[in-house]
Amino acid sequence: MPFDFSSILNGYLRDAKKKYDTARLKGDIEGAKKFALLCAKTEKQLADKVPDQRKSHLENAKKWEEIADTAGIKPRKSVIEKGDRGTSDDDLSDFGDTLIEKSSVTWKDIGGLKETKNLIKETIIIAVAIKPESIKADKGILLFGPPGTGKTLLAAATAGSLESTFFNVKVSSILSKYFGESSKLISALYDSARRHSPSIVFIDEFDSITMSRDGDQGEASRKVLSSLLSELDGFQDKKSDKLILTLAATNTPWDLDDAVLSRFPKRIYIPLPDNESCIEIIKIQLAGLDAKKLDLKRISEQCLTNHYSGRDIQNMCRDAKRSMIRRSNKEIFNDLERTAELPFNELQKKRLQITPMIMEDFNQAITKIKSPISTEIIQRHEKWNKQFGAE
Ligand SMILES: Nc1ncnc2c1ncn2[C@@H]1O[C@H](COP(=O)(O)OP(=O)(O)OP(=O)(O)O)[C@@H](O)[C@H]1O
Ligand SMILES: [Mg+2]
Repeated sequence: MPFDFSSILNGYLRDAKKKYDTARLKGDIEGAKKFALLCAKTEKQLADKVPDQRKSHLENAKKWEEIADTAGIKPRKSVIEKGDRGTSDDDLSDFGDTLIEKSSVTWKDIGGLKETKNLIKETIIIAVAIKPESIKADKGILLFGPPGTGKTLLAAATAGSLESTFFNVKVSSILSKYFGESSKLISALYDSARRHSPSIVFIDEFDSITMSRDGDQGEASRKVLSSLLSELDGFQDKKSDKLILTLAATNTPWDLDDAVLSRFPKRIYIPLPDNESCIEIIKIQLAGLDAKKLDLKRISEQCLTNHYSGRDIQNMCRDAKRSMIRRSNKEIFNDLERTAELPFNELQKKRLQITPMIMEDFNQAITKIKSPISTEIIQRHEKWNKQFGAE
């Protein structure tokens, strides 16, 4: 009986397809290419060994080579099962829709940043209101600043307050996930934004669009960037119900180049909160609790000394609240082991008490929370703001 090579080769093929799929899902472009080529090679070997299926194996080999060429990585349907290649425009038609998020954030949820909030409100009014031809609304606003200062929150509040559709786009994740389809991504995104307008398109980690200029990843970023710039250049639909405002955010504005900056005439520095903003953020974070015994000024001074961002203040308040809960429910927390061992339905009957917050609740939280933001980073942002910032 002749030795059955085809079953071994089919086993190899299955294995290579699996590895290709894993690499694709992980966004490992080089790995995906390598295994797509292995699939192509194995299909060719099968074509030699199984003459009556030669034609279909050669066709499959060709498709795998094309997949390897374009690194046509498909996010939703499996390329493997279908044995097809790349992605048709249809597959991307709902790509934008997958980025839609619901936002219930309002302007009141943001402490400080009054001028920035006003600027965004103003921009929206100008964009939506009936106006003479000579008045054009800004289509894009760039928000830059250290991490945790409220950039995402601002975008979410813009969307939430307008009850508009919120597209939350993380550049790095779409670039790795949808590699190979990059040129179509942005138009699919903006098609969807037009369909669901009024829309807020929030592009986070904006710097990573221009960061990697080399190799395949660079090629993908370039395509995304150039289609994004042309979307921003395009004429905004005249009808006010087609409002699309693009907000882009970055922690490293110095990585952006002139072509990008010129499309964002408004570049807004979102700094660490000042004294007054710290107090506002603390009040927001402690909403519903009694904070009368607190010396908010003293806490905010410490936040300033420690370079706390809004995110750090949120974490500080979370820890302080935990301390208050522990303090106010000693009978539950003093014997933590016994309480934690109670059956779920018993635990459900426990009622947590709250008492007024005291300064002590904050002392430990403040020593525990370390801001990752250095003086050098702040100075770098301030310098860039002086040079390129524009409100
Ligand atoms: N001005 C603020 N008012 C109220 N809360 C704030 C403020 N800034 C930050 N926070 C709190 O910190 C969290 C993080 O803020 P946000 O995600 O908007 O920061 P970011 O600037 O987008 O950070 P990154 O650059 O790391 O993406 C928010 O969810 C919010 O709870
Ligand atoms: Mg953010």
